[in-house]
Amino acid sequence: MTMSGNGDFTKRCHAFFEQRYGFRKCLLCTSGTDALEMCAMLCELKPGDEVIVPSYTFVSSAIAFLREGARVVFADSGKENPNMTVETIAPLITERTKVIVVVHYAGIACDMDSIMALAERHGLLVVEDAAHSIDSFYRGKPLGGIGHLGAFSFHETKNINCGEGGMLVVNDERFVRRSEILWEKGTNRAEFYRGMVNKYGWCDIGSSFLPSEFNAAFLWAQLEQLDDIQGKRKRIWDIYDKALRGKVEEMGIQLPMIPDYATNNGHMYYLVCPSLDFRTKLMGWLKEQGVQTTFHYLPLHSSAYYKDLFKGEPLVNCDHYGDCLVRLPLFYELTDEQAEKIAQLVVEGVRTKV
Ligand SMILES: Cc1ncc(COP(=O)(O)O)c(C=O)c1O
Repeated sequence: MTMSGNGDFTKRCHAFFEQRYGFRKCLLCTSGTDALEMCAMLCELKPGDEVIVPSYTFVSSAIAFLREGARVVFADSGKENPNMTVETIAPLITERTKVIVVVHYAGIACDMDSIMALAERHGLLVVEDAAHSIDSFYRGKPLGGIGHLGAFSFHETKNINCGEGGMLVVNDERFVRRSEILWEKGTNRAEFYRGMVNKYGWCDIGSSFLPSEFNAAFLWAQLEQLDDIQGKRKRIWDIYDKALRGKVEEMGIQLPMIPDYATNNGHMYYLVCPSLDFRTKLMGWLKEQGVQTTFHYLPLHSSAYYKDLFKGEPLVNCDHYGDCLVRLPLFYELTDEQAEKIAQLVVEGVRTKV
């Protein structure tokens, strides 16, 4: 039995995703970051090429493309939720733009029809950073399966995980063969295993992107229970939403907005507070009650690494989410009673303590 990579469990995981979601080709990776690095390599960027990335995201959405020599151009989020929109992307397109990287924040889809149409008008590739987006859909299409390439994360913080892990999804036939070669350290070993060539060798750049069978087996156990996991997470999400909607907005709190075209995959429940000070006080008060909440991304355009390089217009929505967004606990073992209690404490905190 293989313990390294591309063994039985890896193949089972690939087949599961390809059959359940109709993805053209899936390749498990050692992280979501690695899957994004493979996307960037497949885009064949040249120095001077520009890649549009939201600023309100994890650093991997940007560094994968920076490492390939591209210039990253940061886009603002929309007002309704942290996703980029056509309005925030379009003004950033120049003749050097090659790729748009969309992040479906909290597993809620970006408006992909309008983004794909914009990309097509300008001859651009679209990479979906679907790190949060397992089992979530845009107008019935699975996220990660709409752009030319997609990247999932199976990091411990995600709905299903193998400690560290990820997956590349190749939706455009042009990239299928090369993706397997990059995945297997620049060799055509996958073709050799399929009996298509009688020996394998070095034919391109690449790296060791494939995870061991231990990780794949750990992930597989959750894929067998995916509907249960998703059901439980969405149930907790619904408890929060039912308890909070209509009770906290008058205090200036914005709750998650799921557009008609998107589904909710129960990845995250968040509140957007009216100010940084409000968020700090609310988080502090909840902590005193024994509830651990967390804020999320620090905008990339004002990070220590990038702030002197950033030359764009202010990204006001992104800064607002950076200062004001707070996430409530959401994990499989959380009971309904605990979720109800947390929601009650949030209402109490928002109304009387902050
Ligand atoms: C939006 C986004 N993209 C990419 C990643 C990177 O994934 P990983 O931690 O599996 O490398 C993360 C973080 O987990 C993320 O939140």
